[in-house]
Amino acid sequence: MARRKRPLFARWYPDAAARLEARGLAEQRARLLAPLEGRVLELGCGFGANFPHYPAAVTELVAVEPEEHFRDLARARAGELGRPVTIIEGTAEALPVESGSFDAVVATAVLCSVDSQAAALAEIARVLKPGGALWGFEHVGSPRRARHAFEKALDAVLWTHLNGGCHLSRDTLGAIRAAGFDTSGIRTERFAFLPFPVSKSPHIVGAARKPAPTA
Ligand SMILES: C[S@@+](CC[C@H](N)C(=O)[O-])C[C@H]1O[C@@H](n2cnc3c(N)ncnc32)[C@H](O)[C@@H]1O
Repeated sequence: MARRKRPLFARWYPDAAARLEARGLAEQRARLLAPLEGRVLELGCGFGANFPHYPAAVTELVAVEPEEHFRDLARARAGELGRPVTIIEGTAEALPVESGSFDAVVATAVLCSVDSQAAALAEIARVLKPGGALWGFEHVGSPRRARHAFEKALDAVLWTHLNGGCHLSRDTLGAIRAAGFDTSGIRTERFAFLPFPVSKSPHIVGAARKPAPTA
């Protein structure tokens, strides 16, 4: 099934997110991306918030983004930065790139929004070189039962529809493990991902190694 377009989200998200960058998210991005090198594929790049933080050791950057308005903003950002980025239309569930061709895949606040985490993670494993890893941060569902139940209800009635397909309640670490990735490089941290004063929410942060091929 084709992914539903979400042009309204692409219009309001950049301004809202810019406030978060100034409140610590930019440092979070810089810390996350500092160890990267080689050929990198970024999924759901949005307006290109990660672009300034890729180190020089990244020799090629390709970004896949389903929303046209985000792609336009990301191209403008790459131009301002003087950073060559190949920005292409596509979704994480059907990546329009060759198998085994990237040293790293980056997804920040994207697995909360994809239609199918299992399909996206299978594609990420497909396009990574042996030994490659998925790098990113994702807000995840609360470990507290009552709060998690509230998040699920909010996702169902309102949140996901208003926020570009985002889900508050997902167990993204569980999905990454279920896809066979080695998650020993992932830690949990609490920080804010909404641009207005709310309590900090749990995030997973770090790198998940591509599953070794089965014999
Ligand atoms: C919350 S925004 C995060 C944008 C950016 N990664 C960042 O860190 O600011 C979610 C992004 O995921 C993208 N997205 C949503 N569904 C997707 C899918 N199925 N495949 C790839 N990207 C998707 C959206 O278009 C948007 O760019």
